[in-house]
Amino acid sequence: MTELRAFRAELLDFTGDPGENPDSAHVRHRPDGLLLVADGRIVECGPAARLLPQLSPEVPVEYFPDRLLMPGFVDAHIHYPQTDIIASYGSDLLDWLQTYTYPAERAFADPAHAHELAGVFIEELLRHGTTTALVMASVHPQSVDALFTAAAGQRLRLVAGKLLMDRHVPEDLCDPADAGYADSLALIRRWHGHGRFHYAITPRFAPTSTEGQLDVCGRLARLDDSLFIHSHVAESQRELEWVAGLFPWARSYLDVYDRFGLLRRRAVYAHCLHLDAADRTRMCESGASVAFCPGSNLFLGSGLLDLPACAAGHLALGTDVGGGTSFSLLHTLAEGYKVARLAGHTLAPLRGFYLATLGGARALDLDAHIGSFEPGREADFVVLDPGATQLLTRRTARAVSLAERLFALMMLGDDRAIARVYVLGECVHAIG
Ligand code: GUN
Ligand code: ZN
Repeated sequence: MTELRAFRAELLDFTGDPGENPDSAHVRHRPDGLLLVADGRIVECGPAARLLPQLSPEVPVEYFPDRLLMPGFVDAHIHYPQTDIIASYGSDLLDWLQTYTYPAERAFADPAHAHELAGVFIEELLRHGTTTALVMASVHPQSVDALFTAAAGQRLRLVAGKLLMDRHVPEDLCDPADAGYADSLALIRRWHGHGRFHYAITPRFAPTSTEGQLDVCGRLARLDDSLFIHSHVAESQRELEWVAGLFPWARSYLDVYDRFGLLRRRAVYAHCLHLDAADRTRMCESGASVAFCPGSNLFLGSGLLDLPACAAGHLALGTDVGGGTSFSLLHTLAEGYKVARLAGHTLAPLRGFYLATLGGARALDLDAHIGSFEPGREADFVVLDPGATQLLTRRTARAVSLAERLFALMMLGDDRAIARVYVLGECVHAIG
């Protein structure tokens, strides 16, 4: 056993979804807490007044007064090949894909380019406090190798996969169904279950796969139910009409994936904006998860998620960079709140931070490893600075409750509020 270390700060984690109740028993808040870590895992978490006197004097204690320490953030939907096209001006989803996305993804055929961008991407994740992500790579297997290799350097827990596309994209981004199967299988064998890595079978979205390729995805999924499935569904109206024309036999867009066995636990679908009641029932009963990507939905003008309608199933947050314009889960929560308000709903701050941590971990079925300060969980955590900017300091000074301080952080915070980031108990990012 390596040495025990202690971190003293205000601590916050969750044991479940607090909903809109600021006094929920699912909120575990210690105004002056101590987190004990050894071998990269949480040993104990509790009030400093109780734990400090029991500590041997040799145990080093890192003290962060006026900082808030919580589990690392989980980004449940992001594209690493789109890092350089983030914030590309203007059009709806389908035009944006043609104009910016496909040309950018083409460059990942070059391993040197993939390697460079993978490094930049991992650095951006960490700077923003994201310690676990579900990532779409490009169609090229070498893009997945580059990503996992970069993540291994920082010991991140990561889920990723190569895109599967065999129609309606430029010819050089197409991979025939058989080749996609063989390449995915080789990547699964190389990376799935390797250290903290998991593989995701990744059909981009139904319109860019033939039925033959979706069948291949189902075959891959049946090999091992610990594999992830990662795709987009029901993001824009034009996309919905396109899918209806391509798959006339399907009851709905979601039904296309269902027919090929792609709805189950560890299946994560980005957006889910335009689902009907039967689709929502299928999402819930299958155990599949919704990745809510409000930044992207506003940027591309795709629509507003019905948050209350998602309450019964698994829900996580995704930045969807480059459709989303920030790597920050704090910024994503701010956008989520605005989406909720536009739709006549709300997103309470405690629920928001639950979604960014344990909620994301549960949606990815990784809560046995990450997402809370339960003893035995991996020690991935962030140290937030509620005084990171002049405005945050002034607003926080007026806040009378934890919920109010969290709301200020989610509305005004970004990477400047991420003072430190720890992965497996080691500091991997620090401001100043
Ligand atoms: N649907 C299919 N591909 C994409 C993509 O790259 N980004 C988003 N936002 N939606 C998609
Ligand atoms: Zn996406």
